[in-house]
Amino acid sequence: MRILIYDDVEKLGKAASILFAAKIIEKPDCVLGMATGSSPLPVYRSLVELYEQGIIDFDRVRSFNLDEYVGISRSNEQSYYRFMYDNLFSKVNIRPENVHVPNPASDDWVGDCAAYDEAISEAGGIDLQILGIGENGHIGFNEPCRFFPFGTHIEELTQSTINANKRFFEKEEDVPKTAMTMGIGPIMKAKAVVLIATGGAKAKAVKSMLLDPVDPMCPASVLQLHPAATVFLDEAAALLLNKG
Ligand code: GLP
Repeated sequence: MRILIYDDVEKLGKAASILFAAKIIEKPDCVLGMATGSSPLPVYRSLVELYEQGIIDFDRVRSFNLDEYVGISRSNEQSYYRFMYDNLFSKVNIRPENVHVPNPASDDWVGDCAAYDEAISEAGGIDLQILGIGENGHIGFNEPCRFFPFGTHIEELTQSTINANKRFFEKEEDVPKTAMTMGIGPIMKAKAVVLIATGGAKAKAVKSMLLDPVDPMCPASVLQLHPAATVFLDEAAALLLNKG
């Protein structure tokens, strides 16, 4: 695992975006694994800049998002579908038919979860996956658990996640209690993974991801076993790494 610590979040975003830009240049029809939340935003801002400067082209890029809330409409400002269009997809030339976000209005979750995994496999797997990390160590919406769930599945959100995400909603009751998330399987099968963590609220999760034994109670710790994972941290998120 490579661990990089930056003193500035925009710099960190630029550095991580260079890995994405390089992948797009090297493989114009690459498959990118996308994440939502505030952590990837500096990366998306920098990718938009590189696109506007004519340095990268999304025309053949394919993407799969990690997760989506259950029961939220795609037009809802808090849906991850909307988040991706607002922050990246509407600002670059990615083709809508190449974009995949779990469908929040499904009436066949079991079938849809299986179909999502199949679509990822058919695309050849994920070339480069971006991840944030929850305050409880979750990745995607894979919450702390007794085992690592392999495939795309429905997950009940923990109170810690509901608390962390309620800042985006008018009131706590509006925060969806379940989500559809890619499992640990496709994330670990991704050819390369970039995880971004910024801010002091992530310091405990970062320490346990990097320094504690691999344990599904900290889902991100599985990345210790990934052959090509790079972790981008700001100083606040890295704060506990030197303290026993
Ligand atoms: C949500 C998302 C995760 C994200 C996490 C952290 O729960 N499902 O994919 O990594 O929040 O979000 P943020 O980056 O806003 O701290």
